[in-house]
Amino acid sequence: MIVAIDGPSGSGKSSVAREVARRCGLTYLDTGAMYRSVALACLERGVDVGDAEAVAEVARDLTIEFKSEKDAQRVSVNGADVTDEIRTPEVEWAVSPVSAIPAVRETMVALQRQAGERGDVVAEGRDIGTVVFPRADVKVFLSASPEARARRRAVQRGGGNLATGETVAVDAEAERQILADLVRRDEYDSSREASPLRPAEDATRIDSSELGFEEVVDAVLSLSPELRERAERRAS
Ligand code: DC
Repeated sequence: MIVAIDGPSGSGKSSVAREVARRCGLTYLDTGAMYRSVALACLERGVDVGDAEAVAEVARDLTIEFKSEKDAQRVSVNGADVTDEIRTPEVEWAVSPVSAIPAVRETMVALQRQAGERGDVVAEGRDIGTVVFPRADVKVFLSASPEARARRRAVQRGGGNLATGETVAVDAEAERQILADLVRRDEYDSSREASPLRPAEDATRIDSSELGFEEVVDAVLSLSPELRERAERRAS
């Protein structure tokens, strides 16, 4: 079965998708990490992210692999672990123009579909329900207010954990900066020509602004008897 979870950055889709996958015994596929890996490779190789052809060439040259660990997922590119490097502010800046290049998307979508062919996947991103897996069994569009999303990112950056509810004091200036970056990226991701961020017509929309992590996970599980059965079977 295929579960598609789309939404803007900071909506909580990574933590939710990972938890749904864990509870239901499905493989978690973080497609944002794939675009980030291309952006990182461009920065490392000195490739101008405005040069669509050169960036597309880099994308075709990468072998991106995921390895699940107990609470986390490691990402490697051509054999080197890049899990931490793909989360830096430099990559954060470079990834929007990189992910707007149609030829890059073509390469990434083909890889994502290959992962889907093996079945039983929870994939999260921006275009999973609209482009990558339009026939997914379950489609969710997860959103939250920009303020709620900025707050979560700030907590995560400060070392808090949304899944466990572990929280930390956040710096107000840092949070303002995160909010400004989020709004800029939303605008870019939603207005680009190639696969803009938008909900699939048949996606269920969940607004997580006022919901706790467990409530969002339960809301996703409640969308499908198969997901519920899988979770119950594994819990017993
Ligand atoms: O989900 P994220 O923040 O890790 O995504 C990083 C960037 O990649 C973000 O700018 C949107 C883009 N992206 C995309 O265009 N399509 C996807 N399926 C996933 C991410």
